[in-house]
Order: sequence, then structure tokens, then C-alpha cells
Amino acid sequence: MKKHVVLFEVREGTDKGPDGYRPDTLPMVRSLEARGWSAEVIFYTDEQRDSIYEKVADTADAYISRINPGNLKEEAMYFDMLRRLSDKGVIGMAHPDVMINYGAKDALVKLRNTPLVPADTYAYYNVQELQEQFPKSLAAGERVLKQNRGSTGEGIWRVQLLDTEAVDETGKVRPDARIRCTEAKDNHTEEHTLGGFLEFCTQYVTGANGMLVDMRFLPRIKEGEIRIFMIHDKPVNVVHKKPADSADAFSATLFSGAQYRYDSPEEWSDLVQSFLAALPAVTAQLGGYDLPLIWTADFILDWDEQGQDVYILGEMNCSCVGFTSQLSLSENIADEIIAIVSRKEAAVS
Ligand SMILES: Nc1ncnc2c1ncn2[C@@H]1O[C@H](COP(=O)(O)OP(=O)(O)OP(=O)(O)O)[C@@H](O)[C@H]1O
Ligand SMILES: [Mg+2]
Repeated sequence: MKKHVVLFEVREGTDKGPDGYRPDTLPMVRSLEARGWSAEVIFYTDEQRDSIYEKVADTADAYISRINPGNLKEEAMYFDMLRRLSDKGVIGMAHPDVMINYGAKDALVKLRNTPLVPADTYAYYNVQELQEQFPKSLAAGERVLKQNRGSTGEGIWRVQLLDTEAVDETGKVRPDARIRCTEAKDNHTEEHTLGGFLEFCTQYVTGANGMLVDMRFLPRIKEGEIRIFMIHDKPVNVVHKKPADSADAFSATLFSGAQYRYDSPEEWSDLVQSFLAALPAVTAQLGGYDLPLIWTADFILDWDEQGQDVYILGEMNCSCVGFTSQLSLSENIADEIIAIVSRKEAAVS
């Protein structure tokens, strides 16, 4: 064991503190050092990736990726370097496939055979798939269409059918039917024809990582979205995000006016226990990799067929989750890093 960890950042980006680092990066370095380990931050660039690779492969037990892939010109070269490091035995926190598998919106579709996600959840990778299935989905009830790129509710649309007579004999909503669309970014509403709106949605399915996920609208979002903040396999806190009180509001993003409250996992033990029980199925469905080091899972309440509460997974994040609002978590994270490295070392030796 080298007892050395590398944390990757990029130079620019809106997530930096005044010293140029993410505010929650150096606390991890210090917590590792307090445990007799060393850690260093490397600013990644495509140009230097070969020398970075050599250095990290030689010196580190593990890397921690702290880069929002959206801040890179293109993520492919960075992910390629991370993949080579993992192949060389450097433990990926997280492996690029984990970032892709957990973070992409279509993770929901891969989990629709678990109790976490309704079976009628779909992913569209091109216009034909969108045109074929979405009019059927909408005929069955209100939907949410989610683009994969972007965040904070941009391109996340609640879609309501206004013409109740608009379903044709094949069970599809007709293209000329009027619909009402609400965007999670700011809860603003627009009225369109279904055909016009689907044409507008072409932008979301084209280009790199283009896809739309189509899931049932869950009206109990009014009661809030519940985020479990995870350190590897341990829930460490819960954020309750309640959408603004206005009639159309369904968004739990801060900018849209949602209220956040910070709870302990003990206060949400039903949710936490059922999620922990589902984790082996989650990892198996998402490629069989180890869980990410720092990640979140968001839930919305629903009723099951017996009228009991169930929690539906809305999304997961794991490429660049921060903990700036609770820097003391760096202690738990350092303990977890050392435990993961020690377990892996014991397994190979
Ligand atoms: N199926 C659903 N039913 C009701 N509301 C939903 C549903 N899915 C998403 N929402 C609402 O829309 C918001 C944005 O959706 P989501 O979190 O999937 O997208 P995002 O843009 O990636 O957000 P983030 O910035 O959190 O990554 C959620 O916070 C939630 O309030
Ligand atoms: Mg979200």
C-alpha cells in the first residue's frame, strides 16, 4: 500500500473557492494526512494526460475525481485516462463507467425491474423512439420528460394533456392535441401541440449523450423530494427539498424557490432501510462496479397498489457531488477511502 491518494480537479469552473480549489477538496487532503496518509490535488488537462497518468499510476492507491464532466471540453480523453488508471490497479473513485452508469438519466430505465422505479419508465435515444412511445405514455397519464445533459431542472418538463378527447384508435395522443408543459428550471408553463413540442425536444436526443427519459409524473412531489447523501455504502444525511407553494410548482431545485431542510438518516429510516436493501440490485443492474465514494440518490413519494407509501427514485448524482455545506464529512470520507483501499489490497495479496 502506498498510502497516497490523488484528487483530480480542473482549473476553471464555478465550483472553486478563492484559492482555486473546490472548497471541499483540501479538507479531504487534510483528513487523509491526519490519518498518516498523503494526498495531492492534480489539475487535469488533456495536454498533460500522459504525464499525469504515469505519475498517478506510479504513486497512488486511488484517485478521487472531483471534475464536473460539463467543465471539460470533452470528457472522452479524461475518462480514457481514468480507465487506464483503473486497469493499472489504481482504485477509481469513481470509475468512469460508474459516473456514466449512475449519473446518466437512463439509469432509471435500467432500474425499472426493481421496486425503485415504475415499470412504465422509458428512454429515447432518437426522434423515432420519442415519436413512437411518448404519445402512448401521455395517453396513460401525466408525464415528466427529462433531458440527460444539463442540470438544475433545465430541459426537465412536466407534460399534461389538455384535450381529453385527443387519443386515437391506436392508443396514442394525436399530434394536434393541446398540452401544457412546465419546466423544472423555474416552473414556468407553456402551451403547445404535442407534435410541436416533440419537434422542440429533438435537441435533447441529438448529439453526444443525447437522450430523454420519460417517467410518470408523481403528484406527491408537492410533499418534497428527498435526497440521501451517501458516502460509499453509508447514508450520512438527508435533504428534504420542498417545491415552492405556487400552483404549478413541481421543481425541487433551489433556483425555482424550493425550501431545503437537513435531516439525519434516522429520521428517514423507512426510506433509508429500503434503499440499502435495494443496493445490491442497483450495483448489479448498473454494471457490477463498486459503489461511488460520494454520491446522492433523490426520491419522490408515491402510493403502491395497497395504498402504502413507496419511494420512487428520481435521479442519482455521482460525478462531482460536493459537501461544502458540511465540511466535517471529510473525516468520514477519509475513513471510507482508507477502508476501501485496505479491503482491495487485502483481497489481491
Ligand atoms: N417523475 C417526477 N414526478 C414529479 N416531479 C419530478 C419527477 N421527476 C423530476 N421531478 C421534479 O423535477 C426536478 C428536476 O428533475 P431532476 O432532478 O431529474 O433533474 P436535474 O435537472 O438533473 O436536476 P439536478 O440539478 O438535481 O441534477 C426534481 O427536483 C423534481 O422536483
Ligand atoms: Mg435533481
